[in-house]
Amino acid sequence: MTQQYTIARLGHQGDGIADGPIFAPRTLPGEVVTGGVEGQQLTDIRIETPSDDRVKPPCRHYKACGGCQLQHASDPFVAAWKVDIVRAALAAQGIEAEMRPIHTSLPHSRRRATIAVRRTKKGTLAGFHGRASDVITEIPDCHLLAPELLAAIPVAEALAVLGGSRKGILAVTLTLSSAGLDVSVQGGKPLDGPLEASLAQAAEQQGLARLAWDGEVLAMRNPPYQQFGAAKVAPPPGAFLQATKDGEAALLSTVQEIVAGSKKIVDLFAGCGTFSLPLAADAEVHAVEGEPTMTQALDQGWRMAQGLKRITTEARDLFRRPLMPDELRKVDAVVLDPPRAGAEAQVAELAQAQVPVIAYVSCNPVTFARDAKAIVTAGYTLNWVQVVDQFRWSAHTELAASFTLSHISG
Ligand SMILES: C[S@@+](CC[C@H](N)C(=O)[O-])C[C@H]1O[C@@H](n2cnc3c(N)ncnc32)[C@H](O)[C@@H]1O
Repeated sequence: MTQQYTIARLGHQGDGIADGPIFAPRTLPGEVVTGGVEGQQLTDIRIETPSDDRVKPPCRHYKACGGCQLQHASDPFVAAWKVDIVRAALAAQGIEAEMRPIHTSLPHSRRRATIAVRRTKKGTLAGFHGRASDVITEIPDCHLLAPELLAAIPVAEALAVLGGSRKGILAVTLTLSSAGLDVSVQGGKPLDGPLEASLAQAAEQQGLARLAWDGEVLAMRNPPYQQFGAAKVAPPPGAFLQATKDGEAALLSTVQEIVAGSKKIVDLFAGCGTFSLPLAADAEVHAVEGEPTMTQALDQGWRMAQGLKRITTEARDLFRRPLMPDELRKVDAVVLDPPRAGAEAQVAELAQAQVPVIAYVSCNPVTFARDAKAIVTAGYTLNWVQVVDQFRWSAHTELAASFTLSHISG
């Protein structure tokens, strides 16, 4: 039976929510919609009264593809919604802060993507998964990926022909690097001699910088360097990298502004040195990261670079063994950029240590707000928050925030 609803708000996944709650994907607040109800989900949705913020989705794949959730909303609406998500998460913890204007990455700027590839009777099917489904949607005109990345989808298909099983779906992570395409494949056939040889040959023919298969490097014509400040780093296969260059630059310049003038910095959850290496132009940095292959890559990048101050690295699980206050003595500033779970254990120690300046980069407003509350309770001021949208048209929100001990707040 068809029912009518008015959308009250968007949820954290970007779905419209009406009283009930009833979830209506790809609708906007204020819209009157009709459809059938299955559980809490509105299906076969018709927009009866569209919002003024509704726009024609720019990408022709939007209807079927699960890669984007918010292409039906105007840019100003998405920008305000993402900033509001952060503001509301902080308000739920009793914190108010200045929100700076959002930085949003341009279309066609994603430098890294994981393409799903399935072998079919005719050959292969490559693209993104559909919304909450196993169906793969082809994306030849994707508006997210950088043109060079889009042009590399046939590489993923060729690898699937060689090493994809008939039943499984291959996850092919493509990353642009200064030496060409860096490819890391998960979920392929187990390696044996002949497969290894044919994949290595394909890597050569396709001119790949590097090919890794389930974590094992099969071919490396050139190290797939990423430039971090004055240093270049070859990250381990599949290692974390900020999704867009301009998003990385926005986060970095925000972090640089927060820690400006610091001579001794600790960078926690440092990855391969996205922040540590540029910061080492002016400060000594101790970089701590859980994954040893990443700290090794960072260290190697630092050793090859010219003119940087000292960087020390440490592979350490910061959830189980956070840096303790006595390890943070004489430190001028801490940068932290944890995964989605946030940094509860580390923040508890940071609060004790009373390091004068904290730059907190986050990909999860909820855990950020929880940790911000602990930091503020320990006597810090949250000066401002910069929201950065590297995941354009998705429900994902990232930010960088400036904290200073209250007696030195500016
Ligand atoms: C959001 S990434 C940030 C990396 C880096 N700051 C950058 O911008 O490229 C989070 C990093 O935390 C690391 N990580 C995850 N869990 C960790 C843990 N328990 N202890 C230490 N590092 C961890 C991941 O390996 C990843 O490099």
